[in-house]
Amino acid sequence: MFMNNWAAIAEYVQNQLGADKTGHDFAHIQRVVNLAKNIVKSEPTADENIVVTAAYLHDVIDDKLVDDTAAKQKEVQSQLHKLDYTSKDIAAVMDIITHMSFSSNLKHHYSLSIEGQIVQDADRLDAIGAIGIARAMYFGGHFGDVLYDPKQAPRTDLDKKHYRQHTTVINHFYEKLFKLADLMNTPVAKRLAQQRTAYMRNFVQEFKDEWHGHH
Ligand code: ADP
Ligand code: NI
Repeated sequence: MFMNNWAAIAEYVQNQLGADKTGHDFAHIQRVVNLAKNIVKSEPTADENIVVTAAYLHDVIDDKLVDDTAAKQKEVQSQLHKLDYTSKDIAAVMDIITHMSFSSNLKHHYSLSIEGQIVQDADRLDAIGAIGIARAMYFGGHFGDVLYDPKQAPRTDLDKKHYRQHTTVINHFYEKLFKLADLMNTPVAKRLAQQRTAYMRNFVQEFKDEWHGHH
C-alpha cells in the first residue's frame, strides 16, 4: 500500500520540479529517496513511510523554488490527505520538510525526528562526493559564478546573511561542502560522507595544482 502512495507522490513531485535547473531536479529527489531508503535499513526505530514521503517532498516547498511557501505547504498537506495519510503522519512529514535545510539550520539548530535526521543526511550526501562536485559546478554556472579566484582567501564563515552572496564555486567547498561530513546524524551517513569528502578534497587539491601549473 505504501508503494502506491510513493508512486503518486513521485508523480506529484516530478510535475512540481520538472523544469528546475539549479540542482533540485527530480534526479536529485530520486537519489535522496534511494539514499534515505538505504540509511533507514540501519535505523530500526524510524518509520520508513515517513522517511520516504519526506525525502520525495523535501524540496517542493523550498523558498528558492516557490514564491508562496505557505500556499505550497497547504497544497502538500492536502495531497497527503487525499492519499489517506493520518494527520499525525502529515504533521511528521511537514515538520521535517520545513526544518531540514542547511540554510534554515545556520542560525539555530533544529532538533529533527529520527526520520528527519535520515532525510537530512540523504540530502546532504547528495551535495558531496562526485555528484556534489558536479552539482556545485552546475549551480555556479547557472548563476554566472567564476570557478576559482586564487587571490581570494577561502571564506568559511557562513551565516544566513552571507549564504546567498556568491563567491566562487571552489569557495563553496570551504563554506559548506567540506563541513557536511561532521554534521551527519546517522552512522551509515557518517561513513559514506567521509569517503565522499576525501574524494572532494583530492579533487580540490588537484584542481588547484593544475590551476597553478604544478603538474
Ligand atoms: P539547501 O537546500 O540545503 O539550502 P542549496 O539549495 O543551497 O541547499 O543547495 C543546492 C545544491 O546547490 C547543493 O548541491 C549545493 O551544494 C549547491 N550550491 C548551493 N549554493 C552554491 C554556491 N554558492 N556555489 C555552488 N554550489 C552551490
Ligand atoms: Ni534537496
